[in-house]
Amino acid sequence: MTTRIKPVEWAEGIVRLVDQTRLPAQYVVEEYTDWRQVAEAIQVMKVRGAPAIGIAAAYGLTLAARQIDASEMPAFRAAFGDICQSMAATRPTAVNLFGAIERMQRAVSECETPEAARARLLEEAHAITEEDYEADLRMAEYGAHLLKNRFGVLTICHTGALATGGYGTALGILRLAWEQGKAIEVYACETRPRLQGLRLTAWELQQLGIPSRVITDSMAASLMASGKIDCVIAGADRIAANGDTANKIGTYSLAVLAHYHQIPFYIAAPLTTVDFNISDGSHIPVEERDPREVTHLGEIQIAPEGVRVWNPAFDVTPASLIEAIITEEGIAYAPFTETLNAQRAPSRGA
Ligand code: MRU
Repeated sequence: MTTRIKPVEWAEGIVRLVDQTRLPAQYVVEEYTDWRQVAEAIQVMKVRGAPAIGIAAAYGLTLAARQIDASEMPAFRAAFGDICQSMAATRPTAVNLFGAIERMQRAVSECETPEAARARLLEEAHAITEEDYEADLRMAEYGAHLLKNRFGVLTICHTGALATGGYGTALGILRLAWEQGKAIEVYACETRPRLQGLRLTAWELQQLGIPSRVITDSMAASLMASGKIDCVIAGADRIAANGDTANKIGTYSLAVLAHYHQIPFYIAAPLTTVDFNISDGSHIPVEERDPREVTHLGEIQIAPEGVRVWNPAFDVTPASLIEAIITEEGIAYAPFTETLNAQRAPSRGA
């Protein structure tokens, strides 16, 4: 598969979004004409993955700007600000959401008329998408150097084209290494409870023709002990300035296991996922989701009625367990506070 899959697209006043909850059984593209539909799609995870969430929010706000019935800038700005707040309330952990919203608000603040703002927002949403895609391509170049021929690589959740602007973070690195001719074997954790690994990573790896196997999350320790894994690569939803990394629940377990088995553990994410405003991972809000994600498989209840559940969607891996963080600006090693900061371009926006 060489064509670019885009999780979210703009088509003449319509937001087109791949419904990731229906994959791999069905590839369905939904069309939205109301920003509230986009906000709901983010909330229910029809679109998910930190960069893709930011991109969806940006196009949702582009749509919103066309729905705001105001001819004067103060009224337009006030209405747009309220919508930004609602958009920001959809999911709390992935910092790309807030970065994209901030960037869209900044764009509006530089416009003198609602008409100009509407045009500018569309340009900004396109720019956020294309910059993410380009960042992933550069990240893949750096990351692929870390993978040697015949490497077994373990990953978690889903970090491919559908989670990003169209290429992928951790999965983009695997893709490039494979295209470079390295005979890698990828192991994908199924990623309970939403099964992004089983449904989406397995699907994208199949499309790309990369040899892969799925494991249940509880098999990771035995897999590492078997000697089949040479490194672990995961994505990120928010990285604190010191390198502490929030990613899909289960990532921390893999980092602990990798440490025990002396296997390098890498994080791959664009700099838009680094939150330089927070010093460490204790400041990262971790989303707790509906207990039904744990008690049900689809519509089928598999737990006893009334059972109590703890369902955090993410965990925070301490920087001390991370060998390196791969971004579009290079490979950062500890101390991350210094190395990540050095990668940060002064002019960088969201
Ligand atoms: O809850 P999700 O599916 O939006 O979480 C996404 C992840 O945690 C991904 O694995 C990821 O690393 C960030 S997106 C490239």
